[in-house]
Amino acid sequence: MPGKRSLELFEEARRVFPGGVNSPVRAAVKPYPFYVERGEGPYIYTVDGEKLIDYVLAYGPLILGHRHPRVKAAVEEQLEKGWLYGAPYEPEVELAKKILSYYMPGGMIRFVNSGTEATMLAVRLARGFTRRKYIVKFEGCYHGAHDYVLVGAGSAAAEYSVPASEGVPEEVARLTLVARYNDVDSVERIMRRHGDQVAAIIVEPVVGNAGVIPPKDGFLKELRRLADEHGALLILDEVITGFRLGLRGAQEYFGVKADIVTLGKVIGGGFPVGAVAARREIMEMLTPLGKVFNAGTFNAHPVTMVAGLETIRVLEETNPYPAMREAAERIARTLEDAASRNGFEVTVNQVESMLQVFFKPGGVWSYDDAKKSDRRLYDKLHEITLKKGVFIPPSQMESWFLSAVHTREVVEETLRVIEEAFRELRGATR
Ligand SMILES: Cc1ncc(COP(=O)(O)O)c(C=O)c1O
Repeated sequence: MPGKRSLELFEEARRVFPGGVNSPVRAAVKPYPFYVERGEGPYIYTVDGEKLIDYVLAYGPLILGHRHPRVKAAVEEQLEKGWLYGAPYEPEVELAKKILSYYMPGGMIRFVNSGTEATMLAVRLARGFTRRKYIVKFEGCYHGAHDYVLVGAGSAAAEYSVPASEGVPEEVARLTLVARYNDVDSVERIMRRHGDQVAAIIVEPVVGNAGVIPPKDGFLKELRRLADEHGALLILDEVITGFRLGLRGAQEYFGVKADIVTLGKVIGGGFPVGAVAARREIMEMLTPLGKVFNAGTFNAHPVTMVAGLETIRVLEETNPYPAMREAAERIARTLEDAASRNGFEVTVNQVESMLQVFFKPGGVWSYDDAKKSDRRLYDKLHEITLKKGVFIPPSQMESWFLSAVHTREVVEETLRVIEEAFRELRGATR
């Protein structure tokens, strides 16, 4: 439970920030968020003197944990040379070459400042390249906080999709058609009707924003086929999965090739970042070469570039992926076992170092399934684990993440807390 100092700070924060925070999920920690004093390895230390094992990891970027010494050294070295130039700088070329070698050999990349900017630019590029207006997205997939993608499915009777936020004009929302994740038929229906006007299908290869939902066998390949059949582009939004499922991300993991890949999170080593990588003829549409506009004062920020570069070097040199997967598997099995021993029916979805538990039996393959989870129980689980020193996502709709520094001992401690937490959950709810 967050303590007195956090409460004082949150009271002040509520006067200056809507809801007290600068990104909504941060307010999901109830009854109020803890304030961080510092992060170190797998731990967050709060201003209330608590030490928490962190499975949120800033919602994905911190694959090497907090304050990794090599990333810290790279950033410090950069600070000695200044931190923003508004002119080209060598590390951006190095990072670009590295990312392209894994995600788009022979292609090109543009660095921006967030995943939101990356998907916004990817959609604009797809529209510019194909000279078409519509995009297709999936319910429960999140691609950032801009108008093109803040769109949901209308009711079954409604023909059009609807804004998922006030302030998004209906006219804009109508250009985004919404299909069901893992439901090829729903995409086929849309493509049959609008295929010749669809610029791109955009998808999270593993949904990380409706809990964790893996793609069914062949689902992504079917999207590839449908995009090809209708002359649309396939945008894989790898903002979460990039360098998380492995160095080559979801394309290699699921054997599917994208026309455009959006990246973010890990590639900035914990600093603000986004990137769009695509085939050369698509990227050549971009200003200053072509006529699809993008610009940014902070694009390819030097500190971000060196932090991202060093993070990827560490990933290459140490290959933490098998160990992270094994740790995530142990946590997933323990969640299942502890739940079942205490009479809870759950589904645990885990892909590499991403996982989430749903209080719903029988599998979670879509946003509709995820919504059927008993959120009350999830929130209670979050509250109990937090009290016991383990910070899991405060929302059912987010993913747990592991890092390369979640050691065996850290994971053992987590498993113990999970066991205790489910016993307590049974006591609290039965
Ligand atoms: C798949 C995906 N795309 C895009 C975004 C937006 O990224 P950012 O928060 O950096 O704008 C997110 C953020 O969580 C994401 O998970």
